[in-house]
Amino acid sequence: SVSSYISRSSASSRLSEFVDAKTELQDIYHDLSSYLSSFLTILEESVLLRDRQMLEHLCAFSSRVEAIAKVLSRDRMKVAFFGRTSNGKSAVINALLHEKILPSAMGHTTSCFCQVQANGSDETTEHVKVEQEEQHMELSALKELASAHSPRALKPSTLLQVNMAKNRCSILDYDVVLMDTPGVDVTAQLDDCLDSYCMDADVFILVLNAESTVSRVERQFFKDVASKLSRPNLFILNNRWDKASSLEPEMEQQVKDQHMERCVNLLVDELGVYANAQEAWERIYHVSALEALHIRNGHNQNPTAQTQERYQEFLRFENDFSNCLAESALKTKFGPHLQSAQKILNQLKSTLIGPFIEKVSRLIEENKERRANLNAEMDDWVILMQDDREELQIWFEQLTEMTQRVGQSVLNEQINT
Ligand code: GTP
Ligand code: MG
Repeated sequence: SVSSYISRSSASSRLSEFVDAKTELQDIYHDLSSYLSSFLTILEESVLLRDRQMLEHLCAFSSRVEAIAKVLSRDRMKVAFFGRTSNGKSAVINALLHEKILPSAMGHTTSCFCQVQANGSDETTEHVKVEQEEQHMELSALKELASAHSPRALKPSTLLQVNMAKNRCSILDYDVVLMDTPGVDVTAQLDDCLDSYCMDADVFILVLNAESTVSRVERQFFKDVASKLSRPNLFILNNRWDKASSLEPEMEQQVKDQHMERCVNLLVDELGVYANAQEAWERIYHVSALEALHIRNGHNQNPTAQTQERYQEFLRFENDFSNCLAESALKTKFGPHLQSAQKILNQLKSTLIGPFIEKVSRLIEENKERRANLNAEMDDWVILMQDDREELQIWFEQLTEMTQRVGQSVLNEQINT
């Protein structure tokens, strides 16, 4: 039944690995930060231990940790969609969202870059917003601002943020950002925008029109992308497969074979993003975004067998690219954060904690020797310093253990390479 199809469309479990790893890393940075500030308090409050150089070191560590924590909180998985006008890029994104959110129509439609994402943690209402501006507008403003058919359409180089409720669909809930772009003929001329809005994508999706074949502009565009990035994760959707296969049903298999051959050729021989035909083969799909959307938004309650088959293929695509997305983003985004955390811990050990513990130990020894002459106040100092030393040691061990655990559980490969 339709409902069983829809329930099977939930995004892959690997997407949650990204979210889990992010939470664990945020915990590490949070602990690191509170650890540094308690260390700072100890150094500031104790007259005996006050050391200007140590304080400076510590402040520098603190600001580094804060900076990384900020980047970390913004890290999300990004998918960018490209293809010639009218191939159905916006329609594919709408199908992933289960609802027609982005303008999608015949002719040149998407007028600017549209970044669909979940609301920030401090935002409660859905809204659209031009990246560089403060003003929040209603979601319905999209059809005015992002459609080339409207007189108020934004310039192609604009980045429009589409902020939606997290619970609207699972893919947004998993920290995924979907980047819709104007047709490649327009995008290709916007080199700067591509670099700043799209080149950090974890996965690139080329949306082709299955009624025709990959065009020279699309080919060239992806050659440029592949030359900027080392082996990008590239998926090819032969969209509008409902139309393409209905015109001459007897030709369906031949047409599909031809598409496969050309797409494999593009991915392996021309772009060099996959090592062999088998790898590339698994990244090519024949789908109908419009049908997928209609099944998901309830407009098609009785899909035909062919429609169901195409929808299965759409689900396979959704599942595959989600897995690839999570795997890639884990490595590229969190690997460096984890390594930074480990580096900071090592530096802390060699430049601060080691010398600090040495100093405390020396002071305690000195005090022991002169114990007879000390008054009760000095005794208290010794106890305090001993406590501080132990607390720091425990903190340090806990943090080290925590980073090692995260490293082993999620980012094994990254750490070892
Ligand atoms: P631009 O924004 O102009 O670059 O185009 P686009 O690639 O975003 O295409 P868009 O989503 O606007 O789709 C163009 C037209 O094709 C719309 O009328 C869609 O409804 C229709 N369309 C998209 N995908 C499919 C499909 O799989 N099958 C059919 N039959 N129509 C589709
Ligand atoms: Mg579009």
